Amino acid sequence: PVRAVAAMADQDPKTLAALNAIIRRSEPLVPGATQAVLGEGPPGATIAFVGEQPGDQEDRQGRPFVGPAGQVLMRAMEEAGLSRADSYLTNAVKHFKFEERGKRRIHQKPTAGEVSHYRWWLDRELDFVAPRLVVALGATAVLALTGKAIPITRARGPFRFDRRDTPFQGFITVHPSYLLRLPDEAKAEAYAAFVADLRRVADLGR
Ligand code: URA
Repeated sequence: PVRAVAAMADQDPKTLAALNAIIRRSEPLVPGATQAVLGEGPPGATIAFVGEQPGDQEDRQGRPFVGPAGQVLMRAMEEAGLSRADSYLTNAVKHFKFEERGKRRIHQKPTAGEVSHYRWWLDRELDFVAPRLVVALGATAVLALTGKAIPITRARGPFRFDRRDTPFQGFITVHPSYLLRLPDEAKAEAYAAFVADLRRVADLGR
């Protein structure tokens, strides 16, 4: 297995499949994950969604956004006229990081150092997918796409990202797991605002 992403930066995969083969072979930065969870979506997808990192279900199944947060995202996308089948879904960090509590594996937020370690992959991945619009779901995705810690509340909405000094169109919104963590009385309003964001995403990605 390849140990360090720094060493991978010397490699020059020519296709998304070749890049994914490197990611699949690499070891998690923090040991424990079952597998790397790769991005998923059709060639030519016009909208790419970037999350934080795979969760427990994603780690077991090897697919992004199939657990509880993914279900919220899928429901909201559908309400906004977006479909999973037409979109590219990926994460800033490709391995699940967790703490064991009894039988449960509790998600641990990746550090800024871990996010930057995985950034090379995300950049290359987006080069190959070349979507018209990149949607950052939550602060970790924003950090991965900008290199900066920008509060979601301030930057929410259309946003110009740069990849190696080339600007591209983006959109910043909350992470769906944030909606799951809200107290019940705040959930409906926050969910409606998320769907409203995704409607704007659908318009921008057309
Ligand atoms: N949360 C994420 O950020 N990504 C996933 O794939 C699942 C949950």
